[in-house]
Amino acid sequence: MASAYEIIDHEFDVVVVGAGGAGLRATLGMAEQGFNTACITKVFPTRSHTVAAQGGIAASLSNMGPDNWQWHMYDTVKGSDWLGDNDAMEYLARQAPAAIYELEHYGVPFSRTEEGNIYQRPFGGHMTEFGDGPPVQRTCAAADRTGHAILHTLYGQSLRNNAQFFIEYFALDLIMGDDGACEGVIAWKLDDGTMHRFRAKSTVLATGGYGRSFFSATSAHTCTGDGNGMVARAGLPLQDMEFVQFHPTGIYGAGVLITEGARGEGGYLTNSEGERFMERYAPNAKDLASRDVVSRCMTLEIREGRGVGPKKDHIFLHLDHLDPKVLHQRLPGITESAKIFAGVDLTREPIPVLPTVHYNMGGIPANYHGEVLNPTDAEPDRIVPGLMAVGEAACASVHGANRLGSNSLTDLVVFGRAAALRAGEVIDRSAPIPAINKAQDDKIMARFDRLRNANGSKPTAELRDAMQHTMQEDAAVFRTGETLQSGVARMSEIYGRLPDVKVTDRSLIWNTDLVETLELENLMANAMVTVVSAEARHESRGAHAREDFPDRDDVAWRKHSLSWIDDAGKVRLGYRPVHVDPLTPHSDGGIDLKKIAPKVRVY
Ligand code: FUM
Repeated sequence: MASAYEIIDHEFDVVVVGAGGAGLRATLGMAEQGFNTACITKVFPTRSHTVAAQGGIAASLSNMGPDNWQWHMYDTVKGSDWLGDNDAMEYLARQAPAAIYELEHYGVPFSRTEEGNIYQRPFGGHMTEFGDGPPVQRTCAAADRTGHAILHTLYGQSLRNNAQFFIEYFALDLIMGDDGACEGVIAWKLDDGTMHRFRAKSTVLATGGYGRSFFSATSAHTCTGDGNGMVARAGLPLQDMEFVQFHPTGIYGAGVLITEGARGEGGYLTNSEGERFMERYAPNAKDLASRDVVSRCMTLEIREGRGVGPKKDHIFLHLDHLDPKVLHQRLPGITESAKIFAGVDLTREPIPVLPTVHYNMGGIPANYHGEVLNPTDAEPDRIVPGLMAVGEAACASVHGANRLGSNSLTDLVVFGRAAALRAGEVIDRSAPIPAINKAQDDKIMARFDRLRNANGSKPTAELRDAMQHTMQEDAAVFRTGETLQSGVARMSEIYGRLPDVKVTDRSLIWNTDLVETLELENLMANAMVTVVSAEARHESRGAHAREDFPDRDDVAWRKHSLSWIDDAGKVRLGYRPVHVDPLTPHSDGGIDLKKIAPKVRVY
């Protein structure tokens, strides 16, 4: 019975769910403004997945050569394959330098140049001269442990500003008011089994991506799209879910990330003929073309019989020509990963790599202030009061159909900060905290109780395995109508088995069986809308490469997909327009619209 659960109450101005880079930057910003702020997280903050971000954070500091925000914006627009919202992309590129200096002042230990400036390296798709010049050194790095450095700094600063952390609490669902506003969240404290109701004037979802709906991902096992799942259960849409990024260099067999910074420092890919094949596909950017492009080229090389290894099913990444001092100083983390996960001494041998699921461009629709949207045809930018989303969980949409490497950390800090600034404008400090909403509590606890006592015949791990293999096979780097229809049919069948899930542990304390089942429901919602949105999009754009529709179709498809899913797993699709207007008119110092008009995307 739902009422069997006693609930402990908390009242805050702001509750942030998730303590990765975006969640911590939002938490810090809220606390700095004097908001009574809670941050709820299912893992210890410095174990959030941002800790795994290696190569760096993009900003046009010009420390290593000429650069400016307009070039950064242009590269982001082109990287997005013209699906990103121009207002959000301008905001990202313009705010990035200030966000980096702020991080520096908070204490992030960036690597340094001889002159003492922040070190910046080249990264894929970041170029000079509006794409016409050579690669730019724009990615600010702390060796190859940039996310680690940022996460530790932001956690320390949040504590310093008296944010309250609720660590190892699993957020179950949003408390939604009858008027459609979000009133907080209910969470389960994993170490003692108590239930907690956080009522707040603003709830910020910073729950990260859902990489683990695929079999092989660079994402941590905790990346289960929990915020997206909560939003979907609240009857709100997700956006652009068909766009799933494959990182070119996951370690073959292990999926562990080898940073794009490796190619930024001079690494290159070869096929079984020893050929640096990227020179053929992307004569200007070569190995530093955008990720979707490099992943497709690698897949083509393997398909055409030029893969390496006994099964000819992967590619080599060479760093063995680089000065070992550079590897030691700039890439110590991947030197260790290559040894542990591939048994390779990268000063002597190439690393076996394969495109691996890495990032979700889609997520919770939000504007560039972090406010969550519930679009209608008449009001495509309608705001959900009291609800924000930032970071990989959100779709701002700043990455469109394909994110550039190192724009993710920028996104986290720029939009985490933006959400806090917006909260400062819209939260009424004198207004009361939302009242208890018993009907919502009962609904949330009934779902929890149903899963806790689930006594079907299918273990969680079996359903998860089926989902992950289906997504890996049918929503891959290259897609066709046939594979996607198969994906929709297979995922619908697996979704249909959810009511038959079996949870064996009924306890409330450290019940990992139940945690994984709650995570599975979140993953399944994400996976279903991904494959349905992908099947419906009849064009190729960014990471969505359809062999049966090889071209981008801006007339029919330059629009965001929206997807709603019901309890039975049935998905409904809708669309909303891309924001083509940047924030600032050209006459006021904004970018020239002609520069960012859609054109053929070549590197
Ligand atoms: O390759 C990397 O270091 C990953 C960076 C990113 O996804 O932004």
